Amino acid sequence: MHVAIIMDGNGRWARARSLDRQAGHRAGARAVEAIVRSAARRAIDTLTLYAFSSDNWHRPQLEVVSLLRLMRRFLLTETERCRAESIRVNVIGRRDRLGEALLKQIRHSEEVTAGCARMHLRLAIDYSSRWALMEAARLVGGPNPMSPDEYLACLARVTHSEPVAPAVDLLIRTGGERRLSDFLLWECAYAELLFTDTLWPDFDSTALSRALAEYARRERKFGQLPGIARAAAGAGGLQESSMLARSDHP
Ligand code: FPP
Repeated sequence: MHVAIIMDGNGRWARARSLDRQAGHRAGARAVEAIVRSAARRAIDTLTLYAFSSDNWHRPQLEVVSLLRLMRRFLLTETERCRAESIRVNVIGRRDRLGEALLKQIRHSEEVTAGCARMHLRLAIDYSSRWALMEAARLVGGPNPMSPDEYLACLARVTHSEPVAPAVDLLIRTGGERRLSDFLLWECAYAELLFTDTLWPDFDSTALSRALAEYARRERKFGQLPGIARAAAGAGGLQESSMLARSDHP
């Protein structure tokens, strides 16, 4: 199962406590640590967290610097724990605009955890889905049409997603807003969407359980009729593509 999360609400969480926005992001980083551990104990194979969108570069310099510093610190302090718990770390997004220290840490975290297989943790940093779609389209070229899986591989290549992650099954957005904000647009084609008012720093293991329980109650049809989507998967039909759900999903 692939769960993706748009972590929203750090600023409001801080404001409610008369703290500055940076304190909200630090609380958000602590929530990331807890959710990663919690997700690894469940049937989640891939967890993708939207940590820094390409549009976040337009925030005040102080906030940008402190956010990127938090990402580096997270990788620095959590990589060994991830390795010990067999969590593979991967940073997806552009790499041409990140500082050398962060890039070095990303490469180190990815190398150290490359053999880990319990869960694939993907942090999206300087990530824009529209940018990725356009870059992947430039790679396609040529007269031969591509399968969705081949296109997914192109997307993975331009966003440094290693290994290629399957389509998103459940997309959670915290903080009360109901939009995708340029996150995994292709990969969420058939994702179940779950919006919660909980602010990200308050999103804990119980909130994750509730989200997974809600997902389990949803019926996924992939544009087909109830029951048939599952049969097609079993028969090696459309669901054979990793773009679509695996047949053992609820
Ligand atoms: C949106 O909340 C959140 C972000 C732009 C950054 C997300 C970062 C973290 C959760 C912490 C660091 C991450 C890692 C991986 C260590 P917002 O600031 O827009 O909140 P608001 O809408 O309430 O102002």
